[in-house]
Amino acid sequence: MTKVLNAHDISRLIDMPAVIDVVQDAYKEKAMKTGEIWPMIYHAFSDMADMDIRSGALQPKHIFGNKLLTWFGNNAQQNMPELNGLVTLYSSETGEPTGIINAPALTGYRTGAAGAVASRVLANPHSNTLLMVGAGGQALYQIMAQLCVLPEISTVEVYDPMNHENAEKFVDTAKKRLVELFSHDIQAYEAVVAEKIEKRLSTVKFVAVNALDKAVAAAQVIVTATPSTKPLIKAEWVQAGTHINAIGADMEGKQELDTAIFAHANVYVDDLEQATTVGETQNPIKDGTLKKENIQEIGEVLAGQSVGRQDDQQITVFDSTGIALQDLEAANLALQRAVEHNVGTSVEL
Ligand SMILES: NC(=O)c1ccc[n+]([C@@H]2O[C@H](COP(=O)([O-])OP(=O)(O)OC[C@H]3O[C@@H](n4cnc5c(N)ncnc54)[C@H](O)[C@@H]3O)[C@@H](O)[C@H]2O)c1
Repeated sequence: MTKVLNAHDISRLIDMPAVIDVVQDAYKEKAMKTGEIWPMIYHAFSDMADMDIRSGALQPKHIFGNKLLTWFGNNAQQNMPELNGLVTLYSSETGEPTGIINAPALTGYRTGAAGAVASRVLANPHSNTLLMVGAGGQALYQIMAQLCVLPEISTVEVYDPMNHENAEKFVDTAKKRLVELFSHDIQAYEAVVAEKIEKRLSTVKFVAVNALDKAVAAAQVIVTATPSTKPLIKAEWVQAGTHINAIGADMEGKQELDTAIFAHANVYVDDLEQATTVGETQNPIKDGTLKKENIQEIGEVLAGQSVGRQDDQQITVFDSTGIALQDLEAANLALQRAVEHNVGTSVEL
């Protein structure tokens, strides 16, 4: 039998702290070569519609599989979601499909978790101010994940490069939406985690900012999640000791950071080839500010094969482009809990 899990099942079954832990496993498995990723397939149907397929295998979990995610940008005009897709998991012992899972619901969690894994090993653990650049679909997931790993963050500043009013609206409802998304839905199966999340959120203040230079200078941790194609953050604004998670660039031509930032930063990526082709690091590689041999994969730091932050003055940057192992780990977590709690629909294919 194959389990089918929809978006509602996912939000009831998985919690952000658990996804952060399994995404950490995913990066580590890649470094230890017990997790492998296969070449990505990307196809653009038009300027406003594309799809990609990411696939791979996780030996320790005895699974392999893929995520096919579509983006149809005109769907919003018809009140339909822009992102659609499926994660399909298989047993690597029998080849049988074990799960068919809603992909957009998992993507937010695993992308938020990516930034959190990096902050856990690279950011100053006493950071008190987080700057979120971008107030779109990914922002709530990024903020929740950072709050899970950085216990002293008490101010979250939100900047929207396109529309300050949107940032104001975002912060007005942020706490309520975070509680709904990350606590209410998991009450039934993860009541203790739900309670911890609500308690954590009660200690945080959300502020909309419109002077990006001042906000960058005031933050110890910065997350960028926009589809920008021009640098938003200038090198001279970034203070010593800052950690930046660059999440938005995942296609050729995207850019959120001034390449000069990379001249003095310690740089980490999820996958060296992918990140330097389509991630934020494509830009400093192109203009010669950064060389591939000076970039480390985050999994190597987690596996003890290379070093992370060495002093509190270093500027660190993590460039995330998204790898299949994150999706497989998050899907596997959802599937295990679905079996345990008898959630979802079992089908004979
Ligand atoms: N690294 C990963 O694994 C991963 C995963 C999912 C999404 N992403 C990427 O993250 C980015 C953000 O995704 P989202 O769903 O939150 O996007 P979104 O469209 O919901 O908007 C994000 C924010 O960016 C702003 N924005 C829009 N166009 C802009 C532009 N040209 N320049 C600067 N700001 C702009 C919006 O006003 C909004 O505040 C996208 O580029 C997406 O492809 C990366």
